[in-house]
Amino acid sequence: MLNVTSVSAGYGALTALSDISVAVQDGSKVGIFGHNGAGKTTLLRCIVGAHIPSAGTIVWNGEPIAAGSVAANVRRGIAFVPQGHNVFPNLSVEQNLHISGLLFDMKFLSEIYKLFPVLEERKTQRAGSMSGGEQQMLALGMALMTQPKWLLLDEPSTGLAPVIVRNVMERLKQVNERLGTGLLIVEQNVPATLKIVDRALIVKSGRLIEDVSAQELSAKPDLWDFF
Ligand SMILES: Nc1ncnc2c1ncn2[C@@H]1O[C@H](COP(=O)(O)OP(=O)(O)OP(=O)(O)O)[C@@H](O)[C@H]1O
Ligand SMILES: [Mg+2]
Repeated sequence: MLNVTSVSAGYGALTALSDISVAVQDGSKVGIFGHNGAGKTTLLRCIVGAHIPSAGTIVWNGEPIAAGSVAANVRRGIAFVPQGHNVFPNLSVEQNLHISGLLFDMKFLSEIYKLFPVLEERKTQRAGSMSGGEQQMLALGMALMTQPKWLLLDEPSTGLAPVIVRNVMERLKQVNERLGTGLLIVEQNVPATLKIVDRALIVKSGRLIEDVSAQELSAKPDLWDFF
């Protein structure tokens, strides 16, 4: 169980998150939605330890996460894929996967190749020459090389064509089903995300304003009105 309790966070005088409380079961799939500047990225950054909350606690499996130490949290099993293509462009696909898995079990590479066959087909290709969708798969594969229990994704569909978005979402679902990895997905593409998550959190001006099932949110005729 990941417990976020009364978390507030900001940047200098600016308040980005106010009193957020949410508990999520390990292995669950949760979408986090909200308009630009709502605080979604800040929430993910607090959970992975990249940003230190000004108040509140974040506890996973009974132990506080290491605020301010992403490396320590990644070793514990929380992986974060920030927005954009987070690959080393001048290294090959396989070199990228090796670097991410350095502190972990290299044998896991075969699992990554099973999940993303395109990465095995392209393993000697320079990562920077892959398409946007392929680079997003590689970024996911790199995060998975740390064998996380939680995968935090910041807008994984940005810049991808609709058919590729569906593919990325489908892969994320498979990661959850095959490896039991919990997913926290921040997305602007609400309909595509609702197809794979069970639960939706809506953040508005730094506050958690809704915590509903994906089914309930999908049934709303105009999703954005709901925000
Ligand atoms: N490094 C920073 N320094 C100062 N202010 C910041 C910083 N990062 C974010 N903010 C501010 O904090 C607020 C929340 O930002 P955050 O990036 O968490 O929003 P978001 O919901 O992820 O938005 P988007 O959908 O545009 O990515 C915004 O007002 C933003 O301008
Ligand atoms: Mg953001």
